[in-house]
Formats: sequence, structure tokens, C-alpha cells
Amino acid sequence: MLELNFANMMEEVIGVRGINVKVLESLKVQVQEEHRLISERKLPELEFLELPNRDISEIKKFAQEIRKDSDHFLILGIGGSALGPRAILEALSPLHNLRKTPKVFIYDNVDPRTLDGIFSVIDLKRTTVNVISKSGSTAETAAGFMLLWEKMKDIHGKEAGKRFIATTDPASGTLRKIAAENGMRTLPIEKGIGGRFSVLSPVGLLLAEVIGTDSSHLLKGAGDIHEKCSTYELWQNPAYMFGTLLYIMNGEEKRNINAMIPYADSLKFLSEWFCQLWAESLGKNGMGMTPYPSVGTTDQHSQLQLWMEGPEDKVVIFLRIGDYGVDFTIPAVFEGVDGMSYLSGHSISELIKAEEESTELALAKRGKPNMTIHLPSIDAYHLGQLLQFFEIATAFTGLLMKINPFNQPGVEEGKNFTYGMMGKKGFETKKSEVEEAREKKACWKI
Ligand code: PA5
Repeated sequence: MLELNFANMMEEVIGVRGINVKVLESLKVQVQEEHRLISERKLPELEFLELPNRDISEIKKFAQEIRKDSDHFLILGIGGSALGPRAILEALSPLHNLRKTPKVFIYDNVDPRTLDGIFSVIDLKRTTVNVISKSGSTAETAAGFMLLWEKMKDIHGKEAGKRFIATTDPASGTLRKIAAENGMRTLPIEKGIGGRFSVLSPVGLLLAEVIGTDSSHLLKGAGDIHEKCSTYELWQNPAYMFGTLLYIMNGEEKRNINAMIPYADSLKFLSEWFCQLWAESLGKNGMGMTPYPSVGTTDQHSQLQLWMEGPEDKVVIFLRIGDYGVDFTIPAVFEGVDGMSYLSGHSISELIKAEEESTELALAKRGKPNMTIHLPSIDAYHLGQLLQFFEIATAFTGLLMKINPFNQPGVEEGKNFTYGMMGKKGFETKKSEVEEAREKKACWKI
């Protein structure tokens, strides 16, 4: 089971910049209040907690069909509709496209160069496209979908719909309508499941099955950590403790940057996924904590100097792996060379773990708060735990901050300007605003 070690957040261990136990204790009642909201499911978006109990037979059936009739699996989606699938892909099947089929592509932007690259390597005759959009109308996803639809129609004619799976709201939205009219298979993102809380819905599970993962293991892991995180008792609930510690560090110590550093290349995208979850859920009403993704040991040679000697504004979150599943012993070569021979006989995983522990300690010794999530191994079961752990922690922290962690009102204005510029009906005034702004910008360039 995943574990949280927060010794290096505490005053007793790192000194005055750590948290006093009394401060944690003083929040106990508030924690219990937020726990009540969660356990009684007071917000409909807490439905993500039920995902481990959903029937996944249709997902499995579709995945089997894809594995049989497709060499390429192309996901179109953005934000919560793409980061989760990518985190699963990279964690459970590193270097996937060099080693396995169907090869997977995730087009989560509107970059014509990326699209050109994808078109140049995939065979659309043997491709399944999974369009993922909860709302069914996100411009970036819609644009890719429209392009793909035209191309697939040219190749497959009336059968084109069979090459698409639309993962979207079960009842409403443009995508659902198009899917129904054109014979596409569909998978539901249920009403209460928000984009960034959807990784354990068909959004992430179809991809998991397509790459050969039994997604029930992901769900089992998620269910088990949920059980562990279902107690109101702060000292026994790792998700609540994680959120409470960062909340205190942000409020009392003004440490508003959270660096997430997994010691595994394959968890780099997990870190990206976490960053969206943490930023978009908690960045509201002038509050929030800025997450930034790193990877160990690589960023010890890039970011660590800043963490050690830069401003006192960060908390570092280590992700330590127990068993990498594979290992290599460093051979006894260059025996007479002191600068290298000390490594001989040790394993690669021993080295990465030593580096992780050393970095924790180096930070702690300087009084820099950090904590460590111990993940026994990188497999579907433990990945499920990690994903659900972060989702529970994020929802809880939002409630502790007295904000709604499930909305994102701040992203609307930018979207509306884009609609205006692209000529969407009803957004004409937004277009004029953009034009006025361009005029103002014109005299401020060199
Ligand atoms: O977390 C969210 O709600 C967002 O990041 C969405 O996932 C993102 O905007 C994509 O939305 P949709 O799935 O409706 O296309």
C-alpha cells in the first residue's frame, strides 16, 4: 500500500521552518467537517469516488475489438481528457510505440506540426480514433475530430463511424449527437465526473485495456486507497494529511510552490497529470498552490540548486519507488579508477534510491520542508492507488480552502475570445474586444 512519510515537514525534524504538531492538531475539527462533506457526498462531483465499483465489461469488449482490428489507436482530447490516459500509458508501458501494438498517439493540442507527424506515421486504414470530451464541444478536440472524420470518411466511406469511439457525456452534448448519427461506439463520462477527475472512468480505462493492462487492477488499487483514506482521523488518513500539510505550508509559511518529483521516468507524465489536477482545482479566489513537475534524478542536475538555496517558497514532494520490477548490476569495470569503481556491484535501483534519500536529507538538513510518497511498485494496482490518492487529496484540500475544487471559471474568458476570433455565433463582442486589444498592443513593440 502507498505510504506518506511527512517527517521532513515537521518542526521536530527540520526545525523552525517545519510544522508544529499543535498547528496540525488545531485543524482536526475542520478536517472532520470536510470529511463529512466527502463521506456524505455533499457535492455531486465526488462521484469520482464511486468509479472503482463501475462495470467495465463494455470497455474491455471495445479494447479487444481495437486490439484485433487496429495497428494504431489515436486519442483526441485535451486537459483532463488527455493527461490521464497519457499518465497511464507512460507509467505502465514505457516506450510503448517502439515495443508494442496497437501504437498509441495522443493528440492533445492544436499544433499542425504534431498532426502532420502523426499523419505521416499512422495508417488510417487500421486506426481507431478515440475522441474524448466530456462537454463534447471543446474547440481543440473538435478541430482534430473534424479533420480525422473527413480523412476517415474518404478511406472508410459509410463504415467510417465504426473506426471511432466517442467518450463523452452519456446524455447530452454535440459529440454524443454526432456519434449517434454516424454509428460510432460510445463510452460514458458520467454526469458527476469532472475532466481532471476522470482518469479512472472510460477516459483512462479504455487506453489501459488497449495497451494490455487489466484495468480492474487500477480500480482495485483505487478502491483500496479510498478505503484507507475514508477515515476522518487526520493522523490515519494519508490523503487528508497530504492536503493539510500543504495547506498549512501555503497559509502560514507562504510556501506556495509544490514541486512533484517522482524518481522514475515513467512517472513524469503522472507528475504532469497531478499538476493539472492541483492547479485547476485549487487556483481560485486569489488562492492556490503552484505545482511544478520534475523528475528524479534528472532534475537534481537542473532544479535542486534553486530548491536548496533559492527563495523559501517551496515544498518538495518526492515519489519514491520500492521495486522497479527490473534491475541491473553495475559491472566491475574500470577497477583501478576510484571515481567509478565504488559503483561496481551496486545496482541501478540502489543508486536511484540512494540519490532520492540523499536529496530528501540534504533539503531537510537545510530546513527545507519535503515529504515522500512511497510507492511499492509501478504497476496497475499501485498506479490506481496513486491516482485516487491525489484525487481525494485534491478534493479534500479544496474543501479545506473553502473553494469549489471541481469548477474552472477562470478558463472561460480566454475560450470566449477564441470563439469570437473563430467566428462562433454569439461571441461577436468578444471579437471586437480582441481587435481593440490588438490596437493597444501595437505601439508597445520593439
Ligand atoms: O478538468 C477539466 O474539466 C478540464 O481540464 C477538461 O478536461 C478540459 O477542458 C477538456 O474538456 P472536455 O473533456 O469537455 O473536452
